Amino acid sequence: MSTVAALNSVPTLKADFPGLLNADGSPWHYLDSAATAQKPQVVIDAVTKAIGADYATVHRGVYTRSAEMTLGYEAARRRVAAFVGGGEDEIVFTRGATEAINLVAQCWPQKGRVLLSELEHHSNIVPWQLAGWQIDVCPLTHDGKIDLDAAEQMLTRDHKIVAFAHVSNVLGSILDVPRAAELAHQVGAKLLLDACQSVPRLGLTFPGLLADFAVFSGHKLYGPTGIGALWARREHLEAMPPYQGGGAMIERVTFEKTTFADPPQRFEAGTPAIVEAIGFGVACDYVSSIGLDAIHAHEARLVAQLRQALRGMNDVRLFGPEDSAGIVSFALEGIHPHDLGTILDEENVAIRAGHHCAQPLMDRLGVPATARASFGLYSDEDDVAALLRGIERTKRIFG
Ligand SMILES: Cc1ncc(COP(=O)(O)O)c(C=O)c1O
Repeated sequence: MSTVAALNSVPTLKADFPGLLNADGSPWHYLDSAATAQKPQVVIDAVTKAIGADYATVHRGVYTRSAEMTLGYEAARRRVAAFVGGGEDEIVFTRGATEAINLVAQCWPQKGRVLLSELEHHSNIVPWQLAGWQIDVCPLTHDGKIDLDAAEQMLTRDHKIVAFAHVSNVLGSILDVPRAAELAHQVGAKLLLDACQSVPRLGLTFPGLLADFAVFSGHKLYGPTGIGALWARREHLEAMPPYQGGGAMIERVTFEKTTFADPPQRFEAGTPAIVEAIGFGVACDYVSSIGLDAIHAHEARLVAQLRQALRGMNDVRLFGPEDSAGIVSFALEGIHPHDLGTILDEENVAIRAGHHCAQPLMDRLGVPATARASFGLYSDEDDVAALLRGIERTKRIFG
């Protein structure tokens, strides 16, 4: 089936995702894919096989099963690398985006000032605090994008890293990566992209790879939890000391001195998440088979449809820019997002209500929480319609 045909017949794609059905076989309107995406059957099957019939450790075993598992694990790294357009020796498997940011915050050898933005997820704030960086905060434009004119004014040679979300998990705003990279590089800083929300929707290849580092999580890309990746230019990985010590990351150990393996193994201490990595690789292939352009266009249509409907309700506050990627945050006047989320749950609709791990952004917006609907490649107009019906019902209840 062609990509366009695939996305025009979304029921076919929905059928790939057993998690989108309730126990009685009725559809579940899942609009929380920015938190975590549902898994296609191919990923479930691959994980089941890897933890069952194929299971063994990697890298150490001399027996055939272990050698085969090692090939599978390293093939997964190649699949992830190919998906984002990086080299296979530029992909470090981590537990997720959070661990990948912690790794860079702890290990980047030139510490100093880091420039973040007002819309960052807590996992792109707290690791920098814990690692002792001095934090500057770039403001947002009126429509909720990172204000790169302000960044240009703020950046100095003291800034060693600029760490911005490629796509905001609350507002869906898309970063102008070429300009952010240019500004960072002009002062000798490196650009780290929190690509958690962009990798499942836009990909990284261009312009994401103009950055120096990008981090993302497997579970938001239709893969398993417990696995994610740090993509970094090879020379940056070489410049960093190990993050954690243990097995698999060494070359030679004595009590006096240890020498370390080359990247990426240097950063993968201990028995890795073998099964999860294999599932991650299969998820990348699945998304590639549909095509990111088609996914982005599909989600953009749903975003436009939902924003237009919400704009038509005069008691709704809409956040974020018109061209947001796959994510719509809003608030109903006089109704707490948690109450909306609870009533929507009765209607078989799952949205996220809360601060979305972005409390500084909530402060900036002047709200304690927002309601957030986020789409995946399987979302469709029925999901939007069910959400709108639930919102109307909530307004009647509270009205
Ligand atoms: C923009 C963004 N950054 C970082 C994270 C953290 O990802 P994980 O919890 O998978 O490490 C998330 C997850 O919600 C996110 O949306």
